[in-house]
Amino acid sequence: MNEMSWFNLPSLGLSLKALFSSYLCVVGLGAILASAQIMLTHGMADGKLGLSIDDIVYSYHGDHRSSQLEAKLNGSMKDKAPQTERVKIIKWLHNGTSIEEWNHEIKAIFDKNCISCHSTMPGLPDFTKLEQVMLTTKHSEGASTSSLTRVSHIHMFAIAFIFFFNGLIFSLSIGITRWLKVLVIILPFLCLTLDVFSWWLTKINPIFAWITMVSGVSYSLISAYTWFVSMYQMWIMPLNGKKYHHNAWSD
Ligand code: HEC
Repeated sequence: MNEMSWFNLPSLGLSLKALFSSYLCVVGLGAILASAQIMLTHGMADGKLGLSIDDIVYSYHGDHRSSQLEAKLNGSMKDKAPQTERVKIIKWLHNGTSIEEWNHEIKAIFDKNCISCHSTMPGLPDFTKLEQVMLTTKHSEGASTSSLTRVSHIHMFAIAFIFFFNGLIFSLSIGITRWLKVLVIILPFLCLTLDVFSWWLTKINPIFAWITMVSGVSYSLISAYTWFVSMYQMWIMPLNGKKYHHNAWSD
């Protein structure tokens, strides 16, 4: 037994436990809100609810073959018009969105099926105006280089900090074999780096989108694991009155 034998999560004093737990609670809540935001932005990118590989491809690579309008007509707006009329809109898109066809046939389809919402609901494009229809007919280019550069470094700095404090707290846990502890501490940083690199790779080629998915899911699961282990060791383990004599940093 050395003089640092109180240096582990169950034996810490109340003030450090309070600090660590407050931090973990706020970061945990932040993670839940972040997942909700990802679901609402990237999750809906392909027009269907829930995060999928297609969403990641759509967000970072874009869709060089079809426009937002076509994606929606095959996605969340699919039930808004009968099959034959949807096909007419899509043909109009493929034939180059001519004004004559718009006036002749397509405008009527929009008036009948779409403008009840798309002229009344705030925040939606107003489809009584041809300019606003045209804005949804552009092909999606995915994420721009400037936005990726900005998001990449903010993401890396900010999340590295979160992982650092998570790892620091977790490093004080006991009863976990050394190699597992080291792995659990290193992996989130590795996944974070992979995550950011995969956005760039996906922008270039959509086959890399699965790396974004796998790395994001991995660091979420590992963070959840360290969160629960840390909280458990600080608050549940000491309840049995046992003393833990072990310097967690000496492993
Ligand atoms: C019942 C109301 C309603 C009707 C009818 C409707 N939409 Fe929508 N539309 C929405 C809502 C709500 C959203 C936003 C949620 C989403 O993207 O799924 C939306 C989003 C869209 C978007 C994406 C706009 C953007 O800026 O994100 C397009 C494109 C679209 N609709 C096309 C159509 C077309 C074409 C029709 C007619 C065939 C149609 N919608 C009919 C409610 C409606």
